[in-house]
Amino acid sequence: AQIKQAEFIKSSSHESECPKDGLPEFAVVGRSNVGKSSLVNALVHRKELAQTSKRPGKTQLINHYLINKTWYLVDLPGYGFAKAPTEIRTDWNKFTKSYFLRRKSLVAVLLLVDASIPPLQIDLDCASWLGQNQIPVSLVFTKCDKKKKKKNGGRKPEENVNDFQEQLKFSYKETPPYIMTSSVTNQGRDELLLHIAQLKSY
Ligand code: GTP
Ligand code: MG
Repeated sequence: AQIKQAEFIKSSSHESECPKDGLPEFAVVGRSNVGKSSLVNALVHRKELAQTSKRPGKTQLINHYLINKTWYLVDLPGYGFAKAPTEIRTDWNKFTKSYFLRRKSLVAVLLLVDASIPPLQIDLDCASWLGQNQIPVSLVFTKCDKKKKKKNGGRKPEENVNDFQEQLKFSYKETPPYIMTSSVTNQGRDELLLHIAQLKSY
């Protein structure tokens, strides 16, 4: 399951503008700064395929990347920037949630979660909302290369990952599949591509 080809197709401001060819797609979702663009670029082995982040919250766009001419990787705006005004956060909800609920060709959401810090409520809320709406989620933990730091609660990535799943048990009967990754060391890259390939062939 390797990526031989990747091309940017388009940016859409609403689900109705997204490509209509029905190819299976996987949406990359997560907090601003969690490492979405880095992961997309690491997956496709390109330094700058994913638009480098402009002002967070400014761009409200759904970006479609066609992979191997057979499926889409979709980059969505990040959520949860501490400094964003309330109306931007509300927009994120309206905009992204309508995409999730309408998009028939969406196979799964790759929900990115920073493994270098303890679980955040906003990520747990996002995972719960997706679960409640029967949208398949795969948890992709990022920054697993980062060493534990006092200021981050002094916990190892593995501990943060376990805590996150423990806290999700309240909203999921079965915890979603998860993969531990790093865009720095490429940890989890092949595993994630294999996971996507398996989900696609169901
Ligand atoms: P927005 O576009 O603002 O929503 O952010 P993003 O989720 O696209 O994050 P981005 O990929 O721009 O990465 C944010 C910061 O985290 C950058 O400084 C990256 O270098 C760093 N980063 C991303 N992935 C990793 C990782 O796996 N390990 C480490 N150590 N740093 C990472
Ligand atoms: Mg980005």
